[in-house]
Amino acid sequence: MTTTQHFDILVIGSGTAGLTLALRLADSHQVAVISKSQLEEGSSLYAQGGISVVLDKTDSLQSHIDDTLRAGAGLCNEQAVRYTVEHARENIEWLIEQGVAFTRDGISSETYHLTREGGHSHRRIIHSADATGREVETTLLAKARAHPNISLFPYHIGIDLITSGKQLKQTNNRALGCYVLDIQNNVTKTFLAPMTVLASGGAGKVYLYTSNPDVSTGDGIAMGWRAGCRIANMEFIQFHPTCLFHPKAKSFLISEALRGEGAKLLLANGERFMERFHPDAELAPRDVVARAIDHEMKRLGHDCVYLDITHKPATFIKSHFPTIYKRCLQLGIDMTAEPIPVVPAAHYTCGGIMTELNGRTDIPGLYAIGETAHTGLHGANRMASNSLLECLVFAQAAAKDIQAQALQPITDVVPAWDASQVQPAKEAIAISHNWDELRRFMWDYVGIVRTTKRLHKAKQRLALLKQEIDEFYSQHLISSDLLELRNLADVAELIINSALMRKESRGLHYTLDYPLADDSKAPIETIINPRFQDHAA
Ligand code: FAD
Ligand code: SIN
Repeated sequence: MTTTQHFDILVIGSGTAGLTLALRLADSHQVAVISKSQLEEGSSLYAQGGISVVLDKTDSLQSHIDDTLRAGAGLCNEQAVRYTVEHARENIEWLIEQGVAFTRDGISSETYHLTREGGHSHRRIIHSADATGREVETTLLAKARAHPNISLFPYHIGIDLITSGKQLKQTNNRALGCYVLDIQNNVTKTFLAPMTVLASGGAGKVYLYTSNPDVSTGDGIAMGWRAGCRIANMEFIQFHPTCLFHPKAKSFLISEALRGEGAKLLLANGERFMERFHPDAELAPRDVVARAIDHEMKRLGHDCVYLDITHKPATFIKSHFPTIYKRCLQLGIDMTAEPIPVVPAAHYTCGGIMTELNGRTDIPGLYAIGETAHTGLHGANRMASNSLLECLVFAQAAAKDIQAQALQPITDVVPAWDASQVQPAKEAIAISHNWDELRRFMWDYVGIVRTTKRLHKAKQRLALLKQEIDEFYSQHLISSDLLELRNLADVAELIINSALMRKESRGLHYTLDYPLADDSKAPIETIINPRFQDHAA
């Protein structure tokens, strides 16, 4: 059974980016927000450190811009950086208007506590203790739930975008909406809208170890790619230096804000090591810290390093980091009295669907915002707490751009999802085995330190896997696991091909075969164009 539903705007994803855009347009438009799990689930919910914004009198917009450009290692789009930084304050004020409660500094009822993170030369991270994402996400979701023009569809997973070029064979290609699987009822639906917005987050799950939740499978990037959008900078996967190392701790982050408040990284023998790698030591940019930890772990054959904040009073630790304190204690680690075992893990997808400053992609009627998009803000390495900011600023920009257009309802007859040629899958093992294999070889061969040989090995394995997945997909009824696996494989291919194309080390991409940045030519983005995909790498 299929159903067709019409809206003005279809938003795919209910994280900070998707909900911000929905709320900014809902007074004048009918907005549908689909989300493949519970509505609050997504990276946004787990964000800890905060959101960067210039509020301190000793700070300046130029300083935020300069720090972002420095972290981005020559690959940021300066226009995107300036645009983001200049729109930060009004977006934080908007969040406060929505009811987001940021931690106060205790000095006045007007001012907020600002913390510090790697790469930032000033204290400029506004936060809600160590659960900023939860505060933002739950506040925005409550607003969206209460809005009469927002229709929320949890457990609805986008399968593929619908475009007039592909589905209607028209020459003037534009986005018309998305085929969607209603997971709980196992029904495929057609959502049509003159404006479709991909806000489906990043792709951390492509790696075996990640700080990301299960939903971060790169679906938006894969859907955009298959529909014909250019994708940029996928080799720049950020590994967060400090995720909790414990057999029972799946994906738990130990915020960079601990290091911002003076926490030190230690080896098992208690020795500090970051000073040997960078003058800013623990507050060096993330790529440097993650690589240093990886190097020390490999050199010594250790499973983890340690993060020590015991120099701070227990009352400070419990009030600034209540979530982390509680989680560590549940696992038998008292962070007020002992160092926390930590390891790097995949954390953030810097690349994504190429967009303009107003969120437009290559396909008319299709926008991309948040971690799914590549705006040019992050370059070769995202600076801490610039991501939630990017979600807010570009959701606002895209909403403004959509608002300025007269939307024409979709009147074309769009063919329903065709499942007439496929059978129910008899067993799930092929899917779960391939999930595991893909994530493991991506970790082993396309991780923090790369070589051309390892990348080619990964490419070969992926080619076999993709063949199996495509075969399985063409013969069987879809399930969310199968859709995610197919998307992970597409994203893995984009990462590997992008990494092979970059013949230098820069920012988050480090290869032993080209260990230095090649500044002899102006740094360029790695852009993969679906029209020429056979020539990629
Ligand atoms: P998400 O919040 O990930 O939301 C994606 C949404 O899309 C989800 O609702 C998901 O279910 C849905 N979705 C995905 N695929 C589909 C599909 N096919 N169909 C339907 N729905 C789909 N950044 C900061 O700036 N500051 C921080 O302090 C910070 N801390 C972090 C801590 C952790 C543990 C993690 C993982 C990330 C952190 N980040 C931080 C990064 C930041 O949280 C994310 O980049 C940001 O939240 C992404 O928001 P988003 O709206 O783009 O995506
Ligand atoms: C953290 O709190 O360390 C995460 C911040 C970020 O990813 O921006």
